[in-house]
Amino acid sequence: MPPTADLESEQQIVVRKSGPLLGEIVVPGAKNSVLKLMAATLLAEGEYRLSNVPDIADVAIMADLLDAIGVSTTISGPNEITMHNGGVIEPVAPYELVERIRASINVLGPLLGRYGRVRLSLPGGDDFGSRPIDMHVAGLEAMGATFEVAHGDVEARAERLHGADITFEFPSVGATENIVTAAVHAKGTTVIDNAAREPEIADLCTMLVSMGADIEGVGSSTLVVHGVEPGSLRSTDHRTVTDRIQAATYIAAAAVAGGELFLRGARREDMEMVLRRFSDMGLRIVDQHHGLTVCSEGRLRSIDVATLPYPGIATDYKPLIVTMLAVADGVGIVTENLYPGRFRYVEELQRLGADIRTDGHHAVVRGLPSLSGARVRAPDIRAGAALVVAGLAAEGETMISGVHHIDRGYDDLVGRLAAVGASIDRI
Ligand code: UD1
Repeated sequence: MPPTADLESEQQIVVRKSGPLLGEIVVPGAKNSVLKLMAATLLAEGEYRLSNVPDIADVAIMADLLDAIGVSTTISGPNEITMHNGGVIEPVAPYELVERIRASINVLGPLLGRYGRVRLSLPGGDDFGSRPIDMHVAGLEAMGATFEVAHGDVEARAERLHGADITFEFPSVGATENIVTAAVHAKGTTVIDNAAREPEIADLCTMLVSMGADIEGVGSSTLVVHGVEPGSLRSTDHRTVTDRIQAATYIAAAAVAGGELFLRGARREDMEMVLRRFSDMGLRIVDQHHGLTVCSEGRLRSIDVATLPYPGIATDYKPLIVTMLAVADGVGIVTENLYPGRFRYVEELQRLGADIRTDGHHAVVRGLPSLSGARVRAPDIRAGAALVVAGLAAEGETMISGVHHIDRGYDDLVGRLAAVGASIDRI
């Protein structure tokens, strides 16, 4: 696993104008799945083998958090970890770890459902706008939990949770995951309406089912969870779903640099909508037996895009799309419907010469034939990757600092791009 933030903070990525990119990239497992799969090991004693685990800093942070609670993690093979839950669990998530990673909130559901109490600090992670947990709390309260907030910690308790009918006003990813992982041990049936249905949630539900949980509607917006007796779930082995955001990152790289890439493991069914829009921009994306081929010839065409919950275009794709539009032919308008603060990287793209104006939750991107290399700073994971992609289309040299953000979610972005012909180094 790569060293976490502090040790890496001095490093930089240097990218020069590149292309065409040619060859094969193996797309790693999804960060937004594996962190939740790891948290699910709190639900039952035993040994878990998770495969297709990306080599990213957030996995190491999650492993530290779970170690503090009572589940140990060892690396047991290439992209494989073995986790051991020996049944000695202290349901307290310490501040130093929680503040570094948003997915730490995912210990709430398993701990509350299985152990009846949990204390954790309010979660950190990417700093883009306010990220409340009111829907997590309301759903768990409907199941009988009580919450107290004191000194920055949330303390939740429940004798034994009971089933409830929960309708989300918005399909929150984290809230859906926490209610499901709490409900697997609740007394009775929990129905979640307007549940989030990202592929990573289906991946989590599939693992829970193989542990003995009773869940209907996996992959749909109505999840029905019939609770089982505490202690009756068992450990399992599970392969992490491929990362659709990393797949899109390599598509964006080919899009701005030109070329043809085979993305091994990329799954059309998990990224249908965004692939359709990429095709509208002029990319040719062809299904293969174990992945997708992306072919990029000539200049991209501009399109308008709005982010929406799955199956809509994920907010995590947006920095990549804005980058593609920055070198496309025409003007594109990008509308952010999930996180108002998620346009901050635009200033960094402007340093590379991009013509982008933001107005509230809209960005108007006027495409230019080329960008111009400069020193920039990665403000978060996805925006950091988008700056790397932008560097491939920028004359001269682009130096990107804040590399520790990229390491949180990308498994060897530099090595993977270099292997297909990009001029890129980490210094
Ligand atoms: C997850 C992903 C993140 C992605 C996001 C949306 C992980 C670790 N992170 O984040 O990469 O961008 O889904 O696809 O998987 N909200 C509330 N109250 C709540 C919960 C959420 O108001 O109780 C709001 C949030 O502030 C945000 C929106 O709902 O504006 C989306 O949040 P949510 O779907 O919960 O995303 P996360 O699980 O935090």
